Amino acid sequence: MSTTEVLPEVDILEGLEPLARKLGNGASKPRGLFITFEGLDGAGKTTQLKLLAARLREQGKPVLETAEPGGTSVGMQIRHILLNAENKELSALTELLLMFACRAQDVEECILPALDQGLIVLCDRFTDSTVAYQGVARGLSIETVRTVDRIACQGLAPHLTLYLDVDVETALERAHHRNREDERPETRIEEQTLEFHTKVRDAYLDLAAMHPERIRLVDALGTREEVAERVWGIVQRAVGALGVR
Ligand code: TYD
Repeated sequence: MSTTEVLPEVDILEGLEPLARKLGNGASKPRGLFITFEGLDGAGKTTQLKLLAARLREQGKPVLETAEPGGTSVGMQIRHILLNAENKELSALTELLLMFACRAQDVEECILPALDQGLIVLCDRFTDSTVAYQGVARGLSIETVRTVDRIACQGLAPHLTLYLDVDVETALERAHHRNREDERPETRIEEQTLEFHTKVRDAYLDLAAMHPERIRLVDALGTREEVAERVWGIVQRAVGALGVR
């Protein structure tokens, strides 16, 4: 049995009310749909997010793509500090707060307005990344991450999260290959040890087990097209359930 088959079918409409209140539009549910992609560096999140965005647009659905750390002009400047391999002295707590500084800007400037307009927002990483990388792998604690999340994200949480699961060795091999090809300098976190990335994966698996109503585990081994089909099957049901235009 594949890992995708063991998760129960659940109601993804759960959890929408706090966001509706935040948007203050008087409706019982916001009109948009907030979908996040999660996974190790090299799991293929960015590729799958782009394939999904294209497919949704082909169907006439309005989509906003965003990514963290980054997402906005301010966020891209913070991203540079966060990922520059030369910033070796950056403390774990500073890292956490900068991740949330990026997110606060993205939530306020892009994500909430887009959801209010009824768009499908696809976000490459969100707070689950911070739980896995800073909360667990850096050891800052999940509670600390949740506390800052409540301030930075204004109560916003994804309706659906696609966690692309791949073994640590495969993920890092793909990430290092891509970094060599692109000559990317933004490798400060990717360059962490195998042990660090193993903790990140274990944290993601724990999160998926803890939140089956929101997080769907997608087997990320296989061709791009095979993984895209798995993602599409899950998202189609979610979009249908919410009746997003
Ligand atoms: P990302 O932009 O997804 O990597 P890529 O450039 O491969 O698409 O993420 C960059 C790094 O930041 C990645 O190693 C994971 C890390 N990260 C955290 O540690 N915490 C966070 O909250 C986020 C959003 C990212």
